Amino acid sequence: MQSKKRRRIDPPTIHPRNRYSEKPPDFGLLAYLYPSFSPYVFPSSRPGGRPSIDWTNFNATRELTRVLLLHDHGVNWWIPDGQLCPTVPNRLNYIHWIEDLLSSDLIPAWDCSDRKVRGFDIGTGANCIYPLLGASLLGWSFVGSDVTDAALEWARKNVESNPHLVELIEIRNANDFLCSAEVKPKSGKIFEGELSTEEKEADSLEPKLEMSSFSEPHVLVGVVKDDEKFDFCMCNPPFFESMKEAGLNPKTSCGGTPKEMVYPGGEQAFVTQIINDSVVLRNSFRWFSSMVGRKGNLKVLVSKLRDVGVSIVKTTEFVQGQTARWGLAWSFIAVKKSSIALNTPIKSHHSFTLEGLQRQFGAFQILKAVESFFLANGALCKCDFLSFLVNVTLSNDQIDDLLKDGLANIGGRAISSMSNTSTDLKFPKELLFRVSVFEQSPGTVLVRGSLLHKDNPLLGVFSSLFSRLEEALKNDFVNKLRGS
Ligand SMILES: C[S@@+](CC[C@H](N)C(=O)[O-])C[C@H]1O[C@@H](n2cnc3c(N)ncnc32)[C@H](O)[C@@H]1O
Repeated sequence: MQSKKRRRIDPPTIHPRNRYSEKPPDFGLLAYLYPSFSPYVFPSSRPGGRPSIDWTNFNATRELTRVLLLHDHGVNWWIPDGQLCPTVPNRLNYIHWIEDLLSSDLIPAWDCSDRKVRGFDIGTGANCIYPLLGASLLGWSFVGSDVTDAALEWARKNVESNPHLVELIEIRNANDFLCSAEVKPKSGKIFEGELSTEEKEADSLEPKLEMSSFSEPHVLVGVVKDDEKFDFCMCNPPFFESMKEAGLNPKTSCGGTPKEMVYPGGEQAFVTQIINDSVVLRNSFRWFSSMVGRKGNLKVLVSKLRDVGVSIVKTTEFVQGQTARWGLAWSFIAVKKSSIALNTPIKSHHSFTLEGLQRQFGAFQILKAVESFFLANGALCKCDFLSFLVNVTLSNDQIDDLLKDGLANIGGRAISSMSNTSTDLKFPKELLFRVSVFEQSPGTVLVRGSLLHKDNPLLGVFSSLFSRLEEALKNDFVNKLRGS
């Protein structure tokens, strides 16, 4: 078993199918093979260390992305100065997560099973990175949308520079579908709740949008045609409310123009727009998804999703260098009822082991996945990484929501012993339980869940949630890897 000190500093890992998870890019080799890259590569100052680049130099990061796309993916690529420069290993994590969602049997496939996978990239940018990676790596077809001239022009150029992908990627101008009737208030005022002092200061420095002159483009509605069906949509949204907030990470230079980085109301407003559009287009997509940059926003967005009546929410954490990012996915398609859940014994303690984990997965990663699972179910989670446990609280309303959708069939046994009605029940207490994760040996992790109030009438809900957790973790960490 690893020591606590060692385990505490383990960062979240890169997706196991990401080609760079075991073998990061070899800058020395790339410099040798691509002379245009070599001026940016310098030897490590540490004996035996790997050559590196100056991550604060935009030209260096752009050239790295260009040679990685060419060398590892056979993709020709370029962006003009200042446009957002993607980091290939980071962007691959989102692609692989979508691949996981599509191959999971959480929701049924479209009727015609021989259909090729079709995705929609909202805000594809000049770099058009997700369509280029998804099409070259997995043969998926894409519509990539954007609103700026530079993004549309360069995304098209990037597709046309790759004749083998031209048939798979269509770039669509979302400005053609402006929703001029819908007017949003100025930055920072579209959310409930108080702004922090810093946010108020930043807000006062920003130019205010004129109510009358600001018309918000729809993100999906209108841009998606009536008869179109997609397996998924994905989005790396403009995260920030202002360029000041975007700041510049002093440790990297990935560029990014205001149009790429900033949106009135920031990522929360942008993803809310996707959620609103997803309600209208619920039958046009199997999975909707977006990246989220702030954990606080993730919680707010998960509760918006519950409000609009989605059938399932999934979250994950992405590795983005030093920065944490989350993936949020949802669907309106009815979740397949799990046979495991129906047979779950109702107890106040449950445990299961995950065996045969790849070496990069230990207690830390499993604990993060446990937290993501319960967050996606609308729970409040308090993680203790020293003790490797997470305390989970589900309010009455959240339990009601769970009972109304996916858990309806499995909470039933406990509920029927209390009352004849089910979904309208208001229970006297919230549900509190603790999930602990123990690394028994390398590759084997024990997950144990204990209800904190043993006489809680919602034992059945706890048992069922726990069995869903087992199913999800086995699917993500054990079965998928065996299958791959
Ligand atoms: C953070 S950038 C992401 C670029 C690229 N997908 C990536 O991951 O590097 C966000 C993109 O969303 C675009 N955008 C903003 N509003 C949009 C809208 N309503 N519809 C489509 N794209 C939009 C911006 O122009 C920008 O290119």
